[in-house]
Amino acid sequence: MSEAAIRFEKVSKSFGSRTILKELSFEIGKGDSVAILGRSGTGKSVTLKLMIGLLEPDAGDVFVLDRNVADLDASGLSELRREMGFLFQSAALFDSISVGENIAFPMRRQSKVDESEIRDRVEELLRQVKLDGEYDKMPADLSGGMKKRAALARSLALRPSVLLVDEPSAGLDPITSEEIDELLISIGEEDETTIVIVTHNIPSARRICDEMILLDGGLIRARGDLAALEASDDEVVKKFLSSQSGG
Ligand SMILES: Nc1ncnc2c1ncn2[C@@H]1O[C@H](COP(=O)(O)OP(=O)(O)OP(=O)(O)O)[C@@H](O)[C@H]1O
Ligand SMILES: [Mg+2]
Repeated sequence: MSEAAIRFEKVSKSFGSRTILKELSFEIGKGDSVAILGRSGTGKSVTLKLMIGLLEPDAGDVFVLDRNVADLDASGLSELRREMGFLFQSAALFDSISVGENIAFPMRRQSKVDESEIRDRVEELLRQVKLDGEYDKMPADLSGGMKKRAALARSLALRPSVLLVDEPSAGLDPITSEEIDELLISIGEEDETTIVIVTHNIPSARRICDEMILLDGGLIRARGDLAALEASDDEVVKKFLSSQSGG
């Protein structure tokens, strides 16, 4: 078993009187690709936000790349985030700057990076997400799938060792969604990046990830590859899988 890139130890999180996570514990090994599944509102996005310190646990600890996220000061946290890529559910690009500048943004925030190096890296990323030659386009002039790909390129700009992706295929047609999947697969293979994907799309989860975690009621209901989940006798797992294949 590989060393853990991410470790949750009895993590609890509530909002007001609503408990979302209940002493949730799990590990994701370095270089592994794991999908987090679950019904809407089960805390999938909250789980990702805990990983990058956008939210803090009420109790328990979140370790990422051997650091306890809650123990980090502002500079420690930004140092950790430099090693992480995060693609939000909404895939928001900055509307007032070009696609190329959006992708360059994380690099420009680092000091000591020269202009030609940034330009080369952005061109490389644009090729990688099949947006060659679109440097100067404005986000408003892109389709939904192109925006998603541009946002993915931005999250890859600093070559993250941990990549968190929230619903990469939401709102995309099946072909575009498969293209995003292919990209994530190649990133996982090439760079030994640890990838955590939140998705409602089981075929996509199966293509990209070695393993799936099904969240339910603030806890892990099942974990394993698709075959293991399909072999489960658990009513909740069965119901989840049948609802997915049905619609
Ligand atoms: N910052 C917040 N303040 C208050 N409540 C929140 C906050 N973030 C999340 N929640 C609540 O926590 C619950 C879990 O939210 P989360 O976004 O993690 O769901 P999800 O599993 O990602 O769902 P979906 O599949 O619809 O994206 C929801 O009830 C949500 O309203
Ligand atoms: Mg979500």
